[in-house]
Amino acid sequence: MKKIVGLIIASSLSLLAVESNEVFKSCVMCHGSKGEKKALNSSTQLITMSEEVLFSKLKNIVDGSSSMSKMYIKMHRTKLRTVCGDEDIATLSNYIFKLK
Ligand code: HEC
Repeated sequence: MKKIVGLIIASSLSLLAVESNEVFKSCVMCHGSKGEKKALNSSTQLITMSEEVLFSKLKNIVDGSSSMSKMYIKMHRTKLRTVCGDEDIATLSNYIFKLK
């Protein structure tokens, strides 16, 4: 029983690849399908970031400590609401990093 509960918790904590795909759909209009665009003509292109940099920037957005404006943090957090915890952030960083 303990084992089953553990498995359920572990699988609900981590995003599946297909869910990263779903999450990233909401980023494409600004960041481009491969993260190649400068969003609203101002962001750094995601395609130029290492997986580690993506992880730390996404983590800062999710925990609210990002240096972006409050409005941008809020907008990103709405889109990233299904991304919870380091494991999900790592999965999404890996997904974005591999788009190029
Ligand atoms: C409405 C357009 C828009 C959408 C949609 C959007 N972004 Fe952004 N994003 C921006 C802009 C603009 C910036 C740069 C803001 C700044 O530097 O102040 C940015 C910055 C970023 C950064 C860099 C943050 C930093 O600290 O430098 C990351 C990472 C990022 N976005 C990821 C995402 C992801 C992942 C999604 C989808 C879940 C997403 N964005 C959706 C416009 C958007």
